[in-house]
Amino acid sequence: HHVDWEISAAEKGGYEHFMAKEIMEQPEAFRKTVFPRIKEGRVVLDDLCFDAGYLKNLDKLYIIACGSSYHVGMAAKYNLEKLLRKPVEVALASEFRYCDPIVTEKTLALVISQSGETIDTLAAMREAKRLGARVLSVVNVVGSTIARESDDVIYTWAGPEIAVATTKAYSTQLAVTYLIGLYFADLMGTIEKKEYDAIISELLLIPTKLESILERRQAIQYYASIYFNHPSIFFIGRNIDYAIGMEGSLKLKEISYIHSEAYAAGELKHGTISLIEPGTLVVALASYQPLFEKLMSNVVEVKSRGADVLGLATDAKGAEMAKTVDHTITVPDTHPMLLPSLDVVPLQLFAYYVALQRGCDIDKPRNLAKSVTVE
Ligand code: G6P
Repeated sequence: HHVDWEISAAEKGGYEHFMAKEIMEQPEAFRKTVFPRIKEGRVVLDDLCFDAGYLKNLDKLYIIACGSSYHVGMAAKYNLEKLLRKPVEVALASEFRYCDPIVTEKTLALVISQSGETIDTLAAMREAKRLGARVLSVVNVVGSTIARESDDVIYTWAGPEIAVATTKAYSTQLAVTYLIGLYFADLMGTIEKKEYDAIISELLLIPTKLESILERRQAIQYYASIYFNHPSIFFIGRNIDYAIGMEGSLKLKEISYIHSEAYAAGELKHGTISLIEPGTLVVALASYQPLFEKLMSNVVEVKSRGADVLGLATDAKGAEMAKTVDHTITVPDTHPMLLPSLDVVPLQLFAYYVALQRGCDIDKPRNLAKSVTVE
């Protein structure tokens, strides 16, 4: 055991935890996953051979995954529906297996898994295939079962991820969903050249923007020091911010054991607002500019019930948000489709620093496993 410990200390590359190391590796993981697949301003996915006819004929895309990979699917749904104008359904693999899903030969199953071994995801994938779907998987572990059994696979090049709570694998999965969206939209002719080019040029700027967020991590550590003792934390957002809130909330509960819920901000009135009392922490995600005002009206509602609000906005809206909330985290502006990549990082850092303050076993949280291979 002593030897194991020394090896793992060395592998942490100077960081206290694998999770910290992996959070910091995200700009590089994003570069490795995305840059080789962009040639002369176009997404080139060499191993795939989808044709326009097949894609136009699709009845739907069915995204199947568990845990954080499922949250990637939630974000991807917003983007893919916008880009492709095809219905995208996102299913938890454990539900998909037993819900008699509506899948045909015209369905494309998009299976997302870091390990490529999650038992529910694998079983759901086999079920989708049996029903006639073509399976495209997004996998990190090369040669894993899901990768081998898929019709097509796109690897995330996150490298080995050791911490149980995923960070860099999640980020590279997100990145691959952008590539898939652009690749399909281009083939189907559902995107204008100007928009395509705008997304590509923003995509290439993401690693540098991630670096700038990581450089400012001390501010997040400070917010964590204020809020680490809160018994319950709510995340609210709309559209893509809602999908990111789910991941932020999951990260927090996984490693800090604080009860947390993510809510679509518009749903607050239908229940959760009854839980807001003086001092409750609400993390309000307002990066998606088309719905900034709507989100801010929800912030006013929770503020008026005494909540403490930690806001997240892009630079363009940071000052405006700061007038209403207690603390504001900003991320650089980017194309709205790519916001999840930037937004998630402060939330990962927040979860990390809260867990650190609480003295939790960050890399190996209680009761959790990196790869869930039993049902
Ligand atoms: C476990 C891990 C999560 C992961 C989920 C799905 O619960 O702790 O971090 O998101 O499994 O794993 P997969 O390997 O299929 O992405």
